[in-house]
Amino acid sequence: MSAQLISGRDIAATIREEVKERVTALNEATGRVPGLATVLVGEDPASQLYVGMKNKAAKAAGIHSEQITLPVDTPEDELLGVVQGLNANPDIHGILVQLPLPGHIDEHKVLLAVDPAKDVDGFHPVNVGKLSTGATDVLAPCTPWGVVQMLLRTGNDPRGKHVVVVGRSNIVGRPMASLLLRRGAGGDATVTVAHSRTPDLGAVTRLADILIVAVGRPGTVTADMVRPGAVVIDVGTNRVDAPDTERGYRVVGDVDFDAVKDVASWITPVPGGVGPMTIAMLLSNTVDAFEHLVGN
Ligand code: GUN
Repeated sequence: MSAQLISGRDIAATIREEVKERVTALNEATGRVPGLATVLVGEDPASQLYVGMKNKAAKAAGIHSEQITLPVDTPEDELLGVVQGLNANPDIHGILVQLPLPGHIDEHKVLLAVDPAKDVDGFHPVNVGKLSTGATDVLAPCTPWGVVQMLLRTGNDPRGKHVVVVGRSNIVGRPMASLLLRRGAGGDATVTVAHSRTPDLGAVTRLADILIVAVGRPGTVTADMVRPGAVVIDVGTNRVDAPDTERGYRVVGDVDFDAVKDVASWITPVPGGVGPMTIAMLLSNTVDAFEHLVGN
């Protein structure tokens, strides 16, 4: 059997088109457009690339977008001041502080400073708490929220399914489990969360109707760890050396794609799978935040 591909690229393009239409309609109704501010501290090349892509995508959807770039040695107080300025700025409805932050800055303090109503990353403890207590009127973290959209839009509704999530990060694993446990659309799943300390990981992953892997280690899931016919979502994005390529590296997921595609019913590729969904959901969250703050 060869699995059907879940193209995050295609689904993300559809969502970005939907966002653009919502922005146009909101502009006609209110005379305003949603605004997104991204804050980048330092010059990490991967973060620069991601933030650049987020701003470009926002502009393409008609969202007003501002990028604030600060030097790597920016004092914590100064960054907190920038966040407070954005909280008070009526043209900004979504604020994203790119992680990771330099070591001298307390990440928790910064996430806590973002107005929860503008927290389009869904990382503020108020939003984390709301999501984990089942709220549906909450800004949810973009990557797991994107995974839910991929499942729903390919007819793989998680309702009543056993979903195994491998990984317990704050950005993906934990909010993924919270989303799948919620009542209603995109939720109602039976959820197991496994992680690096789970003994005999394969015994757990083989129980999954839907297997979501987000650990950041290539080759974590091999074909023998997947129940035939399962849906496999690979959230991993790992650079591995590839001296034969121009760039010198390849991007691979956490799943052994070539072998698992012959066991699964549906599978996401890497790249072109979950990755593009994160930005699409960021734009969608920004429009949700605008609607909530401005009214629609
Ligand atoms: N760094 C890696 N992923 C993310 C994300 O989703 N949001 C932010 N703010 N930083 C990240």
